Amino acid sequence: MHHVALADTTLAVHTRGSGLPVLLLHGFPLDHTMWSGQDPLADDVRLIVPDQRGFGRSPGPPPTSIAQLADDAVALLDALHVAEPAVICGLSMGGYVAEHVAVRHPHRVRALVLVDTKLEADTPEARAGREKLAATVARVGQEAVAEAMIPNLLARSDAGRARAGRPAVEEQLRRTIHATPVATITAALAALAARPDMVEPMRGVKVPAMLVVGAEDTITPPECMERAERVLREPRLFVMPQCGHMAPLEDPHTFNAAVREFLREVAGPGAAPPAGRR
Ligand code: MLT
Repeated sequence: MHHVALADTTLAVHTRGSGLPVLLLHGFPLDHTMWSGQDPLADDVRLIVPDQRGFGRSPGPPPTSIAQLADDAVALLDALHVAEPAVICGLSMGGYVAEHVAVRHPHRVRALVLVDTKLEADTPEARAGREKLAATVARVGQEAVAEAMIPNLLARSDAGRARAGRPAVEEQLRRTIHATPVATITAALAALAARPDMVEPMRGVKVPAMLVVGAEDTITPPECMERAERVLREPRLFVMPQCGHMAPLEDPHTFNAAVREFLREVAGPGAAPPAGRR
């Protein structure tokens, strides 16, 4: 992991591999470690996995809008001298950021992978819920958000709960949430609540897109991605069984296999063969 200076902040970023650049954007209130199961993808592509401003090891200041996080993502690509269009992959809040990159900086995007996310803005009820949560977090600290979110982040079916490594995943999420500064959590909740509806802007996005969602995601359920399927141009929809809102973390093997196939198509026939077959 190293730090990269941008105009008004510094981002911590983990990079691995070479070839097609693939930017992985984490969800709220997490950091790059939620993508640790995706490291094997670096056999085929150049993975760029930042902590977004204020999260993980990126010092902040905390985010003011989702658009700002999208501009940070592009500034990071610039700082890393990534001139060719990149694949932008984001989970939940990271998905909202990826959508903003596609709309604000279309020439920087080769393809999109939207994971456990949606295009629509918050409902008034969701906004009120975020305001209430921010007030509670400001009063009692990160445990409020860990308590509110962790039960909803992962699959609830018996099969999902019984998955090997489930206690470690819960522990990882709890640790990450506790390490996120309160100021980042409250600022990000405000930014999430204020984000615009992306349905109409996303109709203009023409790059190849893959939509991935856990079948048991209760935060952004499969219907969200099914609606996105009708907005984007011929996207590929992949529903992951026995997974919740954290599909890449819950079942990295299945996620990576599906995304690897999509990335190979995106890279095209001239792309380098996977490391094992060189
Ligand atoms: C996330 O996982 O990034 C958040 O749940 C996003 C949201 O609350 O909309």
